[in-house]
Amino acid sequence: KAKIAVFASGSGSNFEAIEEACRNGDLHAEIVIVVTDQPAAFVVERARQVDARIVAFQPKAFQSKNAYEEAILRELNDVGAEWLVLAGYMRLIGPVLLTAYQSHIINIHPSLLPAFPGKDAIGQAIAHGVKVTGVTVHLVDAGMDTGLILAQQAVDVVDGDAEKTAEVIHAVEHELYKDTLNVLFRR
Ligand code: GAR
Repeated sequence: KAKIAVFASGSGSNFEAIEEACRNGDLHAEIVIVVTDQPAAFVVERARQVDARIVAFQPKAFQSKNAYEEAILRELNDVGAEWLVLAGYMRLIGPVLLTAYQSHIINIHPSLLPAFPGKDAIGQAIAHGVKVTGVTVHLVDAGMDTGLILAQQAVDVVDGDAEKTAEVIHAVEHELYKDTLNVLFRR
């Protein structure tokens, strides 16, 4: 089984889907640690509920981004994490983690990249009036939501409405992430 670290900053619905898939045997992986930069985020609550090991460092408490990531790296090494799975981690990955986990950091993003990178991709899509948006799973590099695309799935915009569209997008994310990770991990 692949030993994965899930990185999240928000509600953690993707974390929950991944955790459930690991438990059911639908994903050939084991979550060895959850990393968040937002100690008050709901993902912390979800991680506690399933007894996942969690590290919640405040980036501001460190002298530099490198120092912050070095602290995370020590935790990742302690638990033997092999892959970093970003699930709504709203922070750029820096050189410390990129070097330590080259080609082993994966992200999911709620648009058909390269359209609508960054924050609130669903809101951006609605604001632009597109009729079709979607979900992308990609390898992480130093850019924002850039890196080699591994999988994409289109989602129709529902009634020009961000909330309704987000519901569909989240459901698609949970399936597409699991399927794409399985392809990577079975190698
Ligand atoms: C997801 O839609 C994910 O694709 C997005 O954050 C959301 C987190 O939801 N990530 C990005 O926008 C990355 N740029 P969750 O906390 O419920 O999993």
